[in-house]
Amino acid sequence: MVRIVPSILSADFARLGEQAGEAEAAGVGEIQIDVMDGQFVPNITFGPGVVGALEVHLMIVEPERFLATFAEAGADRLIVHQETCDDLRGTLKSILELGVHAGVTLNPETPAAAIRDAFDLVDLIQVMTVHPGFGGQEFLYDQLDKIREIRQMLEEEGLEIPIGVDGGVDTTTVPQIVAAGAHVLVAGSSVYNDHGSVAENIAELLASAQIS
Ligand code: DX5
Repeated sequence: MVRIVPSILSADFARLGEQAGEAEAAGVGEIQIDVMDGQFVPNITFGPGVVGALEVHLMIVEPERFLATFAEAGADRLIVHQETCDDLRGTLKSILELGVHAGVTLNPETPAAAIRDAFDLVDLIQVMTVHPGFGGQEFLYDQLDKIREIRQMLEEEGLEIPIGVDGGVDTTTVPQIVAAGAHVLVAGSSVYNDHGSVAENIAELLASAQIS
């Protein structure tokens, strides 16, 4: 089943709660908050105060420093970048010990094999389909191969872990993403924009997933 996960990075920051509410009213079960530190990525965004019950994508160096803070702030899932963890398994175990879900994400340059030994600790694998740091970027089509590769690795191990993508998700890219084997679609600018309401935009994305 395809899940749309709105990224509030593209929402109206003056109406964050309301914009998150519009997505919830549209039937989504998760909303992603992109935490950036200006070091791992060239942007600075939200802190624990904005979290509440959301998915937290940590684009920060040494994420271990803030796992408990974001868990206590109400995060349901903490998603860490493979590139920022000296001991990925240790970091993921720390997340699980906090009683929240753990996810791993990998930048476009990072090979699929880099996260293979984390499969038993995560319930989401997120492939960055843009270089992290900003919304509204072009989708990186070369990452479709990585999605297929991860899907195959999971099948070889008899595992059914949802694969997600983050970046450049819209009604044009969704059919190819779903056909490649990813079903958790993080979407920012295609959900929060002036073209349509949040509910209309989410419905359009879901409809485009049926095309695959
Ligand atoms: C970028 C973030 C994404 C971003 C997606 O680093 O991780 O979640 O908000 O925005 P779009 O969907 O506009 O590419």
